[in-house]
Amino acid sequence: MADALRIGIAGLGTVGASLARILMSRHNKLADICGRPIDIVAVSARDPGKDRGVDLSGAQFYADPVEMARDAEIDVFVELIGGEGDPALASVRAALQRGCHAVTANKALLARHGVDLASIAEERGVLLNFEAAVAGGIPVIKAMRESLTGNSISRVFGILNGTCNYILTEMERAGMSFEECLKEAQRLGYAEADPTFDVEGNDTAHKLALLTSIAFGTRIAPDDIYLEGISNISIEDIRAADDLGFRIKLLGVAQRTDSGIEQRVHPTMVPKNSVIAQVDGVTNAVAIDADVLGELMMSGPGAGGDATASAVMGDIADIAKSRPGHQHGPVLGRPAVHLDPYVRARMRSHEGGYFIRLTVEDKTGVFASLAKHMSDNGISLESIVQRPTQNGNGDKKTVILVTHATMEASVRQAVESISSDGYLIDKPQVIRIERPES
Ligand code: HSE
Repeated sequence: MADALRIGIAGLGTVGASLARILMSRHNKLADICGRPIDIVAVSARDPGKDRGVDLSGAQFYADPVEMARDAEIDVFVELIGGEGDPALASVRAALQRGCHAVTANKALLARHGVDLASIAEERGVLLNFEAAVAGGIPVIKAMRESLTGNSISRVFGILNGTCNYILTEMERAGMSFEECLKEAQRLGYAEADPTFDVEGNDTAHKLALLTSIAFGTRIAPDDIYLEGISNISIEDIRAADDLGFRIKLLGVAQRTDSGIEQRVHPTMVPKNSVIAQVDGVTNAVAIDADVLGELMMSGPGAGGDATASAVMGDIADIAKSRPGHQHGPVLGRPAVHLDPYVRARMRSHEGGYFIRLTVEDKTGVFASLAKHMSDNGISLESIVQRPTQNGNGDKKTVILVTHATMEASVRQAVESISSDGYLIDKPQVIRIERPES
């Protein structure tokens, strides 16, 4: 049997502890599969003495992960610290620069510095694996980077944040408030350290930025993403969606258009009978529209220690199976130096269906005025529904408009004109509609 693959784990939180347990409890089986043992020889964590349910006393302890990356006798540096800056950045960079493979679950780090880190890895001839950074345990990076190489991708979209999907599912299932559902997601260990990263869409945006780069061969562009979170989605929206045959999901969507690539993260109405609408709870899903294959849809656990550790484990096993002297494939599917610049399509040019919920005064002429603003802006309506407003006293009504495919700029203009007519009682709610192929 070949020499052991020596790994150092930086960060022993939920994911790191789960990874250590898998590596220790399946040591023999992994050695058999990979043709060599995988040994944890170094660890770095804030609290060395904490009980993590696994005996790591045989590993050398480092208080500073950068020192571990620079000095420890390791073949693979596993970064599970999190955050886009140091020490995660400095430690991964130090490991790659000295010719050590790196595995990370850190989407924020890669969204911001992925191209630079990929360049270093490719120059040094080592791997930088990051399957766990996108959609938890779903092997979407491998699928896009390797299995779909012969395809041209036109759209990739998905439910990329377990916390948001859990919240939206529970709001619908149990009729609970947004805040109550968020607390429960935090208790279950799904949410980021700062949960606004989940609910305001930043976490989804980081993951989407990585998917876009691999799908379209472009440089990673985390700042060129249209971003809207789920914190202003109400039970009323969820019920209205249900009545009209939709479910609300937080989607990340990257799509090639005539004017560039759209990257957008927003609450989205998806038809109830679509596959993605059935994806509930902490489960993630990614759909890829590929020209040769057609639509590929993958779903699975997207958050939590074990789901993430499963993907990290797969990345480590890939390194264990690779043989010294072998040329490694490019980190982002295309050599970092050959990535195209990202050309952003303007959000105002986005074309799709829209759900518009308005709370209006119940008086003559409101319907006629709404219809006029729609037609003045060239918007064709699929449906228009009026109903009593929940908890209303009869002098206000909820009106829901669903449009056929139209331009975002037209919808914004129509809603602005409606708002200046004086009969709106609350802020209008506008939710985009996405129609998956399956
Ligand atoms: N907070 C993330 C989620 C964890 O809820 O999906 C994985 O990135």
